[in-house]
Amino acid sequence: MNIAILGFGTVGTGVYEIIKKSVRQPANLSVKKILIRKNKKAALPEMTDDFDEILNDDDIDVVVEVIGGLEPARQYIIDALKHKKHVITANKAVIARNMDEFSRVAAENGVKFYFESSVGGGIPWIQGLERALRVDKVDKITGIFNGTSNYILDQMKKTGRSFSDVLLNAQQLGYAEADPSADIDGLDVANKLCISADIAYDIFVYPNEKLPVFGIRNITEEDIKHFSKKGLTVKLMGKSNQKDGKFDYVVEPTLCRAEEIEANVPDNYNVISLHGDTIGTLKFMGQGAGQFPTANAVIQDILDIYQNKEHLTRDFSSSLEFDDNLTRSDYIVRAEVNITDIFKGYHQEMKDDYLRVDDIPVGKMHDLMVEVLKRDELAFMASLPDRGGALIK
Ligand code: HSE
Repeated sequence: MNIAILGFGTVGTGVYEIIKKSVRQPANLSVKKILIRKNKKAALPEMTDDFDEILNDDDIDVVVEVIGGLEPARQYIIDALKHKKHVITANKAVIARNMDEFSRVAAENGVKFYFESSVGGGIPWIQGLERALRVDKVDKITGIFNGTSNYILDQMKKTGRSFSDVLLNAQQLGYAEADPSADIDGLDVANKLCISADIAYDIFVYPNEKLPVFGIRNITEEDIKHFSKKGLTVKLMGKSNQKDGKFDYVVEPTLCRAEEIEANVPDNYNVISLHGDTIGTLKFMGQGAGQFPTANAVIQDILDIYQNKEHLTRDFSSSLEFDDNLTRSDYIVRAEVNITDIFKGYHQEMKDDYLRVDDIPVGKMHDLMVEVLKRDELAFMASLPDRGGALIK
């Protein structure tokens, strides 16, 4: 199979190197073209800065889009599909916003649009989710979906180093996005949760400002020490539930008890779970960011195309409704100013400089945190584990 790689950054280079050196499956994979930036010097004979050369090359079967960002990635994907080339992408931002269109254009042109590497890096999560859906209704998805934030929180806990210090390391290791605010502010998790919900619920969930998202930008070394003393570990998690014709969706710092698997996920690893009618809970763990794990998942998609392995097709026709108050949780909030009036009507208790707010609908909590941030832009919040409240009291 002849492949064109769009973009030769961390993941693109990884795909190229694995194909050159170590694919065990005899699929005769060959990288025929690599698209580089306009006027950039071609360091390899396969390199070109002319996308039309790729579109008009009838020998190219598969286009791997790993330039990232929204445009021109979206247009390249659409053009490649319309030129009857299979497309594989690791670009969660562009998929989350265009999943419906990409799926439709791929089907109209009789080609595949696969994106295993976009969620959970090297973890076969999309494949696992699709397999579960062949038998079960999936009513819950939860997980650590971002390698960079997990690496930051894990390193802060293990070494006591500062947020900015360990973020720099995550960037050097090739885990972070070009603009790491997507990792820190939960937007990368939001994209990955949208993609997962699209598949799980057969509904197109566009990442928008109505979805409750709160990141880890404001976490301090003191917060982490405080949680450790209580036997808790904070993780940035994406969570979605489906019940009674409704679904919800949230990205937020979440405190996990020491014995939970999530609390023990190290480095750049992710763990993503689903719950299905008959399978119960399934957990998928592996490196969620990094050059070779992500490139590996891209190559698995190429091999699926080579072996004619069909992935699940979705038409996004579900009538499920989004309800951000479907789930209630307990939270702790740290702010330097009085905020108790903001949470009037909910059970509250101040302990060790943290305000505990109990049994509040998730969407409501996120709305009220917007008010808290207006008074203290460095405020932080995290949800408490089920029945874990006693630990923080
Ligand atoms: N920046 C992303 C992460 C890369 O840290 O998870 C993989 O999607």
